[in-house]
Amino acid sequence: MKTYIQYKKATDHISKPFAFLDIDLLDDNILQILNHSSNKKIRIASKSIRCVPVLKRIMEKSDRFQGVMCYSAPEAVFLSEHGFDDLLLGYPITDKNYITSIVEKIREGKQITFMVDCFKHIKLIEDTVKDENIKIPVCIDVDMSLVYPKFRFGVYRSPLRSVHEIHQLIYTIQQSKQLKLDGFMGYEAQIAGIGDQVKGKHLKNSVVQLLKKQSIEQIKEKRAEIIDSINEYDLSFRFVNGGGTGSLASTCKEEVITEVTVGSGFFSPLLFDSYKEFQYKPAAGFALEIVRIPKENIFTCTGGGYVASGATGKDKLPAPYLPEKTKLHSLEGAGEVQTPILYKGEENLDMGDPIFFRHSKSGELCERFNQLYCISNGEVVDEFLTYRGEGKCFL
Ligand SMILES: Cc1ncc(COP(=O)(O)O)c(C=O)c1O
Repeated sequence: MKTYIQYKKATDHISKPFAFLDIDLLDDNILQILNHSSNKKIRIASKSIRCVPVLKRIMEKSDRFQGVMCYSAPEAVFLSEHGFDDLLLGYPITDKNYITSIVEKIREGKQITFMVDCFKHIKLIEDTVKDENIKIPVCIDVDMSLVYPKFRFGVYRSPLRSVHEIHQLIYTIQQSKQLKLDGFMGYEAQIAGIGDQVKGKHLKNSVVQLLKKQSIEQIKEKRAEIIDSINEYDLSFRFVNGGGTGSLASTCKEEVITEVTVGSGFFSPLLFDSYKEFQYKPAAGFALEIVRIPKENIFTCTGGGYVASGATGKDKLPAPYLPEKTKLHSLEGAGEVQTPILYKGEENLDMGDPIFFRHSKSGELCERFNQLYCISNGEVVDEFLTYRGEGKCFL
């Protein structure tokens, strides 16, 4: 655990607010992720990073880092121009200009794979390529939700659920002169994206743990059934992708999986403190400056309202974490321009001092700051430009 004084000393010369990355903790997380993934290949979810030097640093640590799962077409083009290859578009693209820009890169020799889950997605790509002599790689996204009569445990993404529907799509791809089947993806969000050891939620945790247990079994069977049924036809494809940070252990146990996707585990934001199976280290965060002291034990900082996406709730707020025992004010939360912090600890906080925060989710931190100040061994050793710092705003 890094201390308040260590971070304060290391960053004393930097004007606040700023975002930081503890490179030593990032490296620990990279190692832990490699150790947890049973020798499977790992695809980096760039949506949870949004910073080229960080993506490069992770990639350089092991040749088991397979490539990147991108979150938008312009981002994939941008990364391919930064020397990245084997880019999987994690989500379908329907904009014709975007499809054209990706096809252009494929024509130049880049390995970029489109995501599809219906005939319309396929048609849109075919129409863009027309009669050209080129094979565009596509990946089929299969829904991995658990569906009960009155309840769905999972997310609304792909409509593809049955082996029959998947076979129909494969058949269409096989028939196409312009497309080739490159892989399969199934994202089990109900395991990867939901904490099961949330503080103060004992009952909910037990229900989620039970549902996760059932879901893991069913997903394993479903994925094996799909891949076995395809293997009967002797089709060749490159990968079967699954999972996310929160499901690393269970997804890697599946034999048919060739690669897992991981993003959030590298920075390990607040939401990833609430999983029973693992604990990564808080590698990234931001610092605000105390600019007023309206009352004893209340320290009001400039900025701070970096609230995360998703269903709204207190868990989407950032939280102060250094010095320890700092808390947001329940009536004000993290404010657009002012954030009061409650503190009754040992540090003698004063105006101008920093409060260090963690973001609730991973990638959105880099949408708020132009650079990450990289801390190692108690000092700032580098500055990494974020996508935003490079003038990019993809989503
Ligand atoms: C398709 C897909 N795969 C994997 C992930 C997992 O990403 P992370 O490791 O950042 O949780 C996500 C997250 O939303 C996703 O949408």
